[in-house]
Amino acid sequence: MNTRRHRGTIKSVSGTVLSIDHLAAEQHVIRIECPEIVNSALPGNFVHLRCNRELAMRRPMSIMRVSKNQGWFDMLFKTVGVGTDLLSQQSVGDEISVLGPIGVPFKLEGYRKRPLLIGGGVGIPPMIYLAEHIKDQTTSSQPIVLMGSEVPFPFQTRPSQIMSTQCPPEVLACMPLLEDWKVLSRLATNQGYSGCFNGFVTDLAKYILNMNRSSLDEFEIFACGPNTMLEAVKALANEFSLPCQISLEEHMACAVGGCAGCAVEIQEGQNIAMKRVCVDGPVFEAETVIFPSK
Ligand SMILES: Cc1cc2nc3c(=O)[nH]c(=O)nc-3n(C[C@H](O)[C@H](O)[C@H](O)COP(=O)(O)OP(=O)(O)OC[C@H]3O[C@@H](n4cnc5c(N)ncnc54)[C@H](O)[C@@H]3O)c2cc1C
Ligand code: FES
Repeated sequence: MNTRRHRGTIKSVSGTVLSIDHLAAEQHVIRIECPEIVNSALPGNFVHLRCNRELAMRRPMSIMRVSKNQGWFDMLFKTVGVGTDLLSQQSVGDEISVLGPIGVPFKLEGYRKRPLLIGGGVGIPPMIYLAEHIKDQTTSSQPIVLMGSEVPFPFQTRPSQIMSTQCPPEVLACMPLLEDWKVLSRLATNQGYSGCFNGFVTDLAKYILNMNRSSLDEFEIFACGPNTMLEAVKALANEFSLPCQISLEEHMACAVGGCAGCAVEIQEGQNIAMKRVCVDGPVFEAETVIFPSK
């Protein structure tokens, strides 16, 4: 399957808001009916949205879940500025202009036995999409999904019933949706939320990898989150010699490869190439990503 998205495959369509749930810490989950997007979406893809009719510049948002049968997709977003504020004011039945699906997805097959999915903050949505894809695609790979947040998680956490010797025994808080899919998940925070790992999500990942030193070849890493987290993930993958794909975020104007406003430095052999996060990414092999120095 050709999974590359370019100007010839990205659709500009109208979607209808089916629901919008307002959660703690100005986080929102919005469900959009839009079969044209859903039919060709893949885990790691995103859409570029008109947040409302008056705001000309679109905003990029990851796809968190799709229902191919019912023709909707979900996004989880946090209000951080004018665009996300306007998006949060959408109501059921509103029409919304959607450009998508956009971007190189995560790898879609050939997973190792224990894919380790690491999501931080608003980097959680692509990890949920990928976890669902892996679960539906194969029974020989059982993902472990780790999520970190410094604001209340955008779902009601509950103690996991899936016991694992691979995770710290006292860390039981999980995401109910993943638990219902029988996918192992664990949560991390520095805020002392009940049942969560006390620390960064990458510290929890390191704990798990250390616990599994004899079977590291069963692991591979997928991650999305803030750059500081992704840098730590890249270092972790390097330390444990694991394959690792990460999804980057950049400010975007066109999101279809035309303006190069989202270019980042990527190592290609001996050379450094400028790559557009929108259409050459957002998913890249972690070892090739050169993070901007602070
Ligand atoms: C591929 C991709 C997927 C994304 N998926 C999600 C998602 O699933 N959920 C979600 O909540 N957000 C996601 N984002 C980030 C989201 O697009 C920005 O938060 C949004 O564009 C901010 O728009 P605004 O008008 O509300 O804020 P602005 O007023 O434009 O900015 C407010 C603040 O957010 C920062 N900001 C704006 N855009 C970005 C960006 N792209 N990356 C990092 N910081 C940014 C600004 O520097 C500023 O500090 C994604 C971004 C990309 C590139
Ligand atoms: S946002 Fe224009 S090329 Fe990526």
